[in-house]
Amino acid sequence: MTNSGAENAARRQAGTIKLHGAEAFAAMRKAGQLTAQALDMLAAMVRPGVTTDAIDRAVFEFAMDHKAFPATLYYHGYTRSCCTSINHVVCHGIPSDKPLREGDVVNIDVTLIVDGWHGDASRMYAVGEIPRRAMRLLEVTYECLELGMAAVKPGATTGHIGEAIQRHAEAERCSVVRDFCGHGLGQLFHDEPNILHYGRAGEGVTLKPGMLFTIEPMINLGRPHVKILSDGWTAVTRDRSLSAQFEHTIGVTETGVEVFTRSPAGLDFPDQPTFPNPAVPASSPA
Ligand code: MF3
Ligand code: CO
Ligand code: CO
Repeated sequence: MTNSGAENAARRQAGTIKLHGAEAFAAMRKAGQLTAQALDMLAAMVRPGVTTDAIDRAVFEFAMDHKAFPATLYYHGYTRSCCTSINHVVCHGIPSDKPLREGDVVNIDVTLIVDGWHGDASRMYAVGEIPRRAMRLLEVTYECLELGMAAVKPGATTGHIGEAIQRHAEAERCSVVRDFCGHGLGQLFHDEPNILHYGRAGEGVTLKPGMLFTIEPMINLGRPHVKILSDGWTAVTRDRSLSAQFEHTIGVTETGVEVFTRSPAGLDFPDQPTFPNPAVPASSPA
């Protein structure tokens, strides 16, 4: 979601962050796992020549087959069942008839509503063999999400999450996009609190058991600045550098964190080969 400050700060003061119980956690587990299964299904589909329209149709059909509804469809005028953000697209890329090409990296972001509850997750997929600098960005971004989630426990603040992410991204000479953030969710798609992917421990909202939100860092190889294309949705890096994102839906528990959208098939991170392949020296005969 977009990072809009003042209005949200006021609601935060008013204590409007919902704390959910065991029944909500059970419902979120169900929505989160179906969303993860949709992303798992796409892993077999992402390859050179496939259009993001075809991916979008597969997400819609998966939702229909499982009595779910894609939350992005008709959301604020958006007309697709997922977002597909390729290479320098940061987020909210709109599926199109353009085929994926060997070497692309694409984020696919799916939100499924199951029995009224939202599971929101995204992953990076490699299209064929990808450049090693692209794989490095995917690894750093994945680690940022894992470090952010590891900071979640009662008494910590949203700033602990942001600091963990920012510290790792910048230590790896990457940058954190500031214009979009994670968000509370549940029976609403985008709710309080905002989860900034940068900041300092102790800032922001204090985490309490029962909070439900996403963490979804967008990390760039170049500068952090983005612009929105004339379609009103597609966010791209201003310097056209490569951008990556991973997203999970989580709940704060009494002791730490529950991740609702982990892949049941172990496909949270792509395992495609990269080039140049260090096992095959460039000078070796064919
Ligand atoms: N799933 C995105 C998120 O992580 C939101 C997409 S809204 C859309 O919050 F309208 F762009 F699809
Ligand atoms: Co989200
Ligand atoms: Co999402």
